[in-house]
Amino acid sequence: MTSPLEEAIRGRFGRPLRHLSEVDSTNSEALRWASSDDPAPQGALVVADGQTRGRGRWGRSWETHPGSSLAASLVLRPRWPTERWGSLTIAAGLACAEAFESLGIGPAVLKWPNDVLLDSKKVSGVLIETRIADPAPVAVVGIGVNLAGGIELPEEIAARTTDLAEAALRRGIDPPPVAAVLGAILERLEALYDELGDGSRAEPVRDRAAARMELLGAPVTLRYMDGGTSEVVATGLLPDGSLQITDEDGTRSVHAAEVERIRHR
Ligand code: BTN
Repeated sequence: MTSPLEEAIRGRFGRPLRHLSEVDSTNSEALRWASSDDPAPQGALVVADGQTRGRGRWGRSWETHPGSSLAASLVLRPRWPTERWGSLTIAAGLACAEAFESLGIGPAVLKWPNDVLLDSKKVSGVLIETRIADPAPVAVVGIGVNLAGGIELPEEIAARTTDLAEAALRRGIDPPPVAAVLGAILERLEALYDELGDGSRAEPVRDRAAARMELLGAPVTLRYMDGGTSEVVATGLLPDGSLQITDEDGTRSVHAAEVERIRHR
């Protein structure tokens, strides 16, 4: 008998599917599968109802509880030069935004690099991990979506996050089932991946992501991993997923930072 999740998977992405009730992290499981004796092929997907050690960007933890979140990791094996793999970062966030809108929950906004926001609050995050020296190079696209509330969150995080059920309610529609959410994301991601071709055709995808990206053109604070900050203007999104910024030293690109709007008191 096919499960609702299997039924929702219509294209190449999501096959073969490993659906687990609990795992440490779907990204870790996908990476283990990718380097196993029977390596995960392109399109293989790990979905878990709960994660005990879900990971966010910058080594942060990412909570996943049964029924309240979607945790999925897709195995990709692009046969393109690895310098072009940055466009996957753009495609992953854009796929989630387009998927939510296809379910009637929009407009969905992107926050660099690929957080998805509804009603100015984060609903979904993406963590892409690559292994170039695997038997064959692999990129694991990990996607976490808040589906429904009901979890005690620290006040500061609760104020900045939302979930699809809450956003659907605000729009007067029923919350989408998890299978529909996963199916829509995979469908959009596969279409965008095909559009990227060999990674050299990233501009149209980049343009659509940039059009949804809040803070482009705005003065922002960049917060780096070492705790340092700088005030710059975010001037563009580059096809490799990096952020183009301008300050008194000129224009350059930034690959890793947190971006915050400068709030004038
Ligand atoms: C972020 O916004 O910091 C990225 C969060 C990514 C979370 C997802 S949930 C599925 C996959 N498995 C993980 O351990 N992390 C990603």
